[in-house]
Amino acid sequence: MTPLLKVTGLTRMYGNRVGCRDVSFELWPGEVMGIVGESGSGKTTLLSCLSARLEPTAGTVEYDTRAEGLQDIYAMGEPRRRLLMRTDWGIVHQNPRDGLRMGVSAGANVGERLMAVGARHYGEIRAQADEWLRKVEIDGDRIDDLPLTFSGGMLQRLQIARNLVTHPRLVFMDEPTGGLDVSVQARLLDLLRRLVTDLGLAAIVVTHDLAVARLLAHRLMVMRRGEVVETGLTDQVLDDPHHPYTQLLVSSVLQP
Ligand SMILES: Nc1ncnc2c1ncn2[C@@H]1O[C@H](COP(=O)(O)OP(=O)(O)OP(=O)(O)O)[C@@H](O)[C@H]1O
Ligand SMILES: [Mg+2]
Repeated sequence: MTPLLKVTGLTRMYGNRVGCRDVSFELWPGEVMGIVGESGSGKTTLLSCLSARLEPTAGTVEYDTRAEGLQDIYAMGEPRRRLLMRTDWGIVHQNPRDGLRMGVSAGANVGERLMAVGARHYGEIRAQADEWLRKVEIDGDRIDDLPLTFSGGMLQRLQIARNLVTHPRLVFMDEPTGGLDVSVQARLLDLLRRLVTDLGLAAIVVTHDLAVARLLAHRLMVMRRGEVVETGLTDQVLDDPHHPYTQLLVSSVLQP
């Protein structure tokens, strides 16, 4: 079996400062990988490099393209990379405003992604947008409303619908529940977990919230100062952490 993503020696410097350093791992189809670590540990930098939005200083990110097998995403050229981002990948931003078009309706936000992969039939696009709004628990009668009129939780669910409507194989999420009320977070997590399982999605989820990691991720990478200090199955890492930094991270969450 071929991994979906093969990351080798990935390093990103900001001048002399380390963003992330020498990260290597493989992600398998249908697998959810969590990236955890304190603020400034390099999570967003790594995610941006993985999702073709930030060129690494060294190392490679290879993706299993359907046509040609594993391909270095930074060597393949802009048009093919853009096509991948539109078809095979989804990106859920921490701030839904970064992933949505606030000036067009909820239905258009979802429909636009379909049109980007070639859908042309208005009735079908609208029907699919309607179906996806329901899947993310947004009432069908909001389809013509602007996202500006949505709550934070609704915006995040709309962003998820916009990403998943084209059935990507791999979704990148940066703090998908950050900035939301606890009750809203719980509902969103539950929805995300269900969708990821139902669609057999592979995902990379950045979070500083270990409860989110526990609920969504099969496997965890723990980062500190740009480097991966521990990796393993989620329950193992959280219940029996080996690295002192992970022990600290886990215990500081458990303490009242
Ligand atoms: N654009 C940038 N220019 C210079 N340094 C940067 C830039 N972005 C990030 N860094 C530095 O790279 C390191 C990793 O930052 P990064 O944002 O990836 O961490 P993070 O784990 O996502 O943190 P947070 O949990 O606060 O989002 C930090 O030392 C940060 O100061
Ligand atoms: Mg970050």
